[in-house]
Amino acid sequence: MKEKINQYLAEIEKFTANTAEELEQFRIRYSGKKGILNELFADFRLVAAEERREMGVLLNDLKGKVQQRIESLREGLAGEETAAASSHDLTLPVNFMDAGSQHPLMIVRNRIIDIFSRIGFTVAEGPEIEDDWHTFSALNFAPEHPARDMQDTFFISENPDVVLRTHTSSVQVRVMETTKPPIRMTFPGRVYRNEAISARAHCFFHQVEGLYVDKNVSFADLRQTLLYFAKEMFSPDTRIRLRPSYFPFTEPSAEMDISCNLCGGKGCGFCKYTGWVEILGCGMVHPNVLKNCGIDPGVYSGFAFGIGIERITNLVFNVKDLRMFSENDVRFLQQFESAWQQ
Ligand code: DAH
Repeated sequence: MKEKINQYLAEIEKFTANTAEELEQFRIRYSGKKGILNELFADFRLVAAEERREMGVLLNDLKGKVQQRIESLREGLAGEETAAASSHDLTLPVNFMDAGSQHPLMIVRNRIIDIFSRIGFTVAEGPEIEDDWHTFSALNFAPEHPARDMQDTFFISENPDVVLRTHTSSVQVRVMETTKPPIRMTFPGRVYRNEAISARAHCFFHQVEGLYVDKNVSFADLRQTLLYFAKEMFSPDTRIRLRPSYFPFTEPSAEMDISCNLCGGKGCGFCKYTGWVEILGCGMVHPNVLKNCGIDPGVYSGFAFGIGIERITNLVFNVKDLRMFSENDVRFLQQFESAWQQ
């Protein structure tokens, strides 16, 4: 038995494990249920009484050595693993992540906001889920106005007071209710209308609303502000034309055309040979609207306008189908990557 133990001791000392599996096999060979240690301890019962003491010491020593060896080898293997994990090769080329690009509607939205910010317009936003007051009533819509019609507006059947806003003009009301003039702001955002989706209509689109309320604000201020915008947005030789129109919240109201930016006003297929393309609605804020928002129309006046972002984007980038803006096709979206870096 003594001889056997010495053999095992030599084996244990020599043993090394390259993998966790090899180490596990070693552990089973010695410490497993049917392993060498249990076998030796079973034999120990047969050892003669006078040798027992010596054998006991040797056996326990062997058991300790097995345990030590397993532990030190296990530590070594764990160390190697972490060393392998942290040994990054710093000379390898980096895997660049695709950074994506700005959505064309965002590019144009930011451009519009930027142009107005240069003449003192700050930015505010309002909720897309609105109530009747902010979307219609405060803006001087008559109770039977067709814009409230179920065809145009998304209502909530349980509560007809809750609507998805149909225009960003609702933010005018929210701002005027809480801000003392002078007010000079733009309100960008998404709006919703209950329309069948086609190349030229969508159930949602985007607008930038503008509002200027102060003492002595005139129609001339409106015209000059919008002319400045058109020239900055398109080109310095862009001309504008204001056509009388109707909106409940402005009086007088107008629709603004710009000289066609494709043909320069000569007339082409894009402008239907008129030389003009419509880009926004505008007007002087109706006295009733000022009153509804707690602003005295005897002291203050103002102008407002609403720009369709898709409309401008179509003009600038010549996008023919509205649906492309929300299809998330990267082949479409990537084309605008380097456009108009500001
Ligand atoms: N809210 C109108 C629309 O959605 C656009 C508009 C027209 C906004 C005239 C205005 C405005 O502020 O003065 O069609």
